Amino acid sequence: MILMNNAIKEIILTEEKIKKRVKELADDIIKDFPDGDLILIGVLKGSVIFISDLMRSMNVNVTMDFMAVSSYGMSSKTSGIVRILKDLDFDIENKDVIIVEDIIDTGTTLKYLYEYLKSRNPRALKICCLLDKPEKRNVDIKADYIGFEIPDAFVVGYGLDYAEMFRNLPYIGILKEEVYKKY
Ligand code: IMP
Ligand code: MG
Repeated sequence: MILMNNAIKEIILTEEKIKKRVKELADDIIKDFPDGDLILIGVLKGSVIFISDLMRSMNVNVTMDFMAVSSYGMSSKTSGIVRILKDLDFDIENKDVIIVEDIIDTGTTLKYLYEYLKSRNPRALKICCLLDKPEKRNVDIKADYIGFEIPDAFVVGYGLDYAEMFRNLPYIGILKEEVYKKY
């Protein structure tokens, strides 16, 4: 058994800091869409914690849907290939849609999703991303709402995983190297 806390080298974003920023992001989105009636599309599974906090910070009517894509497999390096594993349950034509993602790294996943959802003719399509690693970007995509810019390190917690582990950490941190070697 590994204790979550013991696997973390450094906490880069505390629970309090994340909470405050998520509320600010929700306010920014509602400023742009004051009437609500938004569809938040969470990208499984990394965005689950983020989307649930984000939508609870919005005092207007929002609905949620999920997509699942795979680009990483079980490793910490991107494969560059995006596959849709779960599509939307609802039609988004003429709707105001926000893609909610945990992190933009190379940008491959979001670029693909953005183009895919755009082709379904939403009225507005925006991207809200908790974390941005601008150093690694190799496709042209920018989020409209960004929580935090972070340096190029592999992070876990608050929904983000390493080999499906550590999503339940309440903060975001950098893993110890020995954890990679072990799993
Ligand atoms: P991209 O397609 O390279 O932008 O990768 C985006 C996806 O890779 C995210 O949705 C995450 O699932 C995963 N990812 C990228 N960097 C990290 C990280 O530091 N920790 C955990 N997952 C990551
Ligand atoms: Mg993800």
